[in-house]
Amino acid sequence: MDLRKYIKTDSDLQEAIKFITDGTLFYQPFIIHDNIVVGEARNFIKQYSDVNSIYDYNLYAKGFPELEKINGIKRNLITDEEKDFFIKINKEYDYLYDYFIDEIIKEVNEPVENLTFAEIGSNTGIALLKLCEKGAKECYAYDWTNYKPLYNWYRKTLGANINFLQCGWDNLYHRILVSNNVAVTLQSIEIFSRKILKKEKPHQSHYYDFARIFSKRDKHLKTYDIPEVDVMLNTVFTNHQFDPMQFIAYCCDRSRKAVFFWLLLDKSNPDDHTLWFPESSPHENIIPSENRKFPLNYNNNVRISEKLLKNTLEQCGFENIKKIVPDVSEDFYNWGIGKSNNAKTEKSWALIIGTRTNDKKSAFYKNSF
Ligand SMILES: C[S@@+](CC[C@H](N)C(=O)[O-])C[C@H]1O[C@@H](n2cnc3c(N)ncnc32)[C@H](O)[C@@H]1O
Repeated sequence: MDLRKYIKTDSDLQEAIKFITDGTLFYQPFIIHDNIVVGEARNFIKQYSDVNSIYDYNLYAKGFPELEKINGIKRNLITDEEKDFFIKINKEYDYLYDYFIDEIIKEVNEPVENLTFAEIGSNTGIALLKLCEKGAKECYAYDWTNYKPLYNWYRKTLGANINFLQCGWDNLYHRILVSNNVAVTLQSIEIFSRKILKKEKPHQSHYYDFARIFSKRDKHLKTYDIPEVDVMLNTVFTNHQFDPMQFIAYCCDRSRKAVFFWLLLDKSNPDDHTLWFPESSPHENIIPSENRKFPLNYNNNVRISEKLLKNTLEQCGFENIKKIVPDVSEDFYNWGIGKSNNAKTEKSWALIIGTRTNDKKSAFYKNSF
């Protein structure tokens, strides 16, 4: 998403740069300045082959020496040779968000100004920012990383009124947890427990192991029931969850009109209702999860068969289901999404819109623990 039109003063630019140097902006595709571009698309396409840290090769920055380090540690920037490819591929990644947002709005078939949206696992908010630009009535962002300062900056500098709440999806009990003390962020609980265990990784301080927070749940966390909205979005998230089916039901139960999922399908069992878990997590050296206690070790590349996904949506009242398939480049197609000129096979990343056809809720709805 091109933020250059909003960044009008040097102080706006310095604030944006701070969100890069502290490790907040790196994953979703943003253009901050003619010579500052972030986004993970290049690493998707290259399958992380030369990546050793989550901050490698997702920033092009020229003429800004302060961006050569992340929390004080040197990071691998995009080289001049790769610049054009990096910008092109991030643009296409950005387009995928425009594409599905337009398709959701078409499918709901109501003025966007009347609609409320929420996203669990919102990250740095690209989908909700785009919806704000289109005039969405209200937007709610939820993530276990503390993006509050970033969303405050969006409000001030972009005029995007997105309500952000730091909270975590609890895979063990299929609910949302928040800190029970507004002054204590989930990260500070984690950083504290990590320090005690002397396992601190300073350059990855905004990433942390939620599993350890769960072990302290009685003291620090309480259940939070996410309020209903018209449209629940969820992108590139269920592949990181041990319990995708329960999570999908949670989203459906809190959506009045539509749900959207960008997720990984298990293509190997087209006729069955299956969940698929990898033997070991990909990118284990970048985001370690193997040492988590079962079942939290299943933290990446989790897949659901299309039949089970459809049945879950139907059981939750969303019988009108549409798979949308974007036209993409060969690079993105080979990564695993969309359709391209030369290839016909459907890939594993799927974009699915469900619209509500009845008032059914799942058995999880309003369960309190
Ligand atoms: C792979 S990113 C996808 C982000 C975004 N939806 C997108 O499409 O770019 C997953 C996001 O979910 C968050 N996340 C992962 N597991 C979570 C959990 N159990 N509870 C809350 N947030 C979680 C991460 O912090 C991250 O921002």
